[in-house]
Amino acid sequence: MSTENFPLPGKNIARSEKRSIPDIEHGPDLYIKFQGQRLLNLASNNYLGLAGSEKMKEASMRAVAQFGTSSGASRLISGNYSLYSALEDALCSFKETSAALVFGSGYAANLGILNALAHRKCLVFSDRLNHASIIDGITLSRAVHVRYRHADPEHLEYLLAQKPVQAPKILITDTVFSMDGDKAPLPQILNLCRKYRVLTIVDEAHATGILGRGRGLVHELGLQQEIDLHMGTFSKALGSYGGYVAGSKELVDFLINRSRSFIYSTSLPPAVVGASLEALQQVQDHPGQGQRLLELSSELRSFLQELGLDTGTSTTQIIPVIMKNSQAVLQAQAELIQAGIFAGAIRPPTVPADSARLRLSVRGDMARKEMELVKNAFRKIFTRQSRNEQA
Ligand SMILES: Cc1ncc(COP(=O)(O)O)c(C=O)c1O
Repeated sequence: MSTENFPLPGKNIARSEKRSIPDIEHGPDLYIKFQGQRLLNLASNNYLGLAGSEKMKEASMRAVAQFGTSSGASRLISGNYSLYSALEDALCSFKETSAALVFGSGYAANLGILNALAHRKCLVFSDRLNHASIIDGITLSRAVHVRYRHADPEHLEYLLAQKPVQAPKILITDTVFSMDGDKAPLPQILNLCRKYRVLTIVDEAHATGILGRGRGLVHELGLQQEIDLHMGTFSKALGSYGGYVAGSKELVDFLINRSRSFIYSTSLPPAVVGASLEALQQVQDHPGQGQRLLELSSELRSFLQELGLDTGTSTTQIIPVIMKNSQAVLQAQAELIQAGIFAGAIRPPTVPADSARLRLSVRGDMARKEMELVKNAFRKIFTRQSRNEQA
C-alpha cells in the first residue's frame, strides 16, 4: 500500500528539523570516525569513558562465556540467571535500598514503573522538561498528567494545593535534566511531597556515576530517606545498557507483578548484565571520577560563557549552547566537525521551539589536549560568527 492512501501523520517536517541517523564508527569512544574524519566525541553519554574499557569488555566476555548470548525469555518464565541477582544486590547497596529490579532499558523502566503504579484516578506531577520516557509512561497509565514549570517548586505547590487531599499522587522528576544539564531543586520538591503525601520517584539517568560520588543527586544531598523509587539507566555514565529501579521490597515486588515492560519482554543478555555489574564496581572503586568530570565541565562552561555563548542553566557535565534556531545549530555543528569535534544538534520537538542547541557532553576521559582542542574550535568559530553578525 502506498502512503498516498495512508497519509503519514505530521509528514511535513521542516528541513532544519529533519532527523537522519549519522554513520558513526566507535560511537561511545573518545574519538569517533565520521565521514572519514577522526572527531573528538562530545555527543555520547559515555561520560566516564567506561564503555569500551578493557575491564568492561572482559566482564562482558566472561558473562557470555558462562551464560551465552541471550537470556531466552522473560525472567519470570525462564530468562533468569544468577548475574541478575548479583546486579540487583549491588544496586541495593549502591542506592541503599532493600530491593532493586533491572529492566530492558531506562525507557522501558519509566514506562513500566508509571504504567504499573499510576491509574486513572491518580495524579502524576511531572517537571515540564522531564524525559520523553516519563511523559510516555504517564500517557500510557491514563493518569492525570499535571506538568509543573521547569524546576519550579512554587508552581508545583500551587498545583498540589488545588487537588483533592485524598487523591493518590505521584511526583516524578529527572534529577539532572538531559538537555539542559541543570539539577532539580530536590530539597524543596521533597518537602512538598512530604507535606502533600506524594509518592516520589527520581530519574537519576544523568546523575548516576557522577554526582554524590557516583550514587546520584539524592545521595549528594543526603535525601535517601525521602525517595520511594530511584530509577536510572546503565546506558550513560555506567557505559552499559539497561534500566533499573531501586526501592522498598513492597514496591519492587509490586513492580515485578505489574510492570508490563518487565513481565512481557525478554530479559537483557548476559553480556550486558555482566558489564553493568562491572560498571557499578568501577564507580565504587573510583568515586572521585565524577567530581573530576564536573570540574572539567565547569572550566569549559566558564570558557563558553566568556565567549558570550548561552549555556542556559547547566551546572553539570551536560552543557547546552543555546541558539536562536535549528539552522544556526546545524551550521555550528558542521563548523565544529570541520574543526575536529562532534557535538549533538538538538532541535524541536526534543527541546521547545526557539531553544535549539548544541549539546556538549563533557567526558571524564578528556585530557588537557582535548580541552584545548574544544576551546580553540569554539574560540575560532564563535568569534568569527559574532564578527559576521556585527558586520
Ligand atoms: C532522563 C532520562 N531517563 C531515561 C532515559 C532512557 O534511558 P535508556 O536510554 O536506557 O532507555 C534517558 C535516555 O536518554 C534519559 O535521558
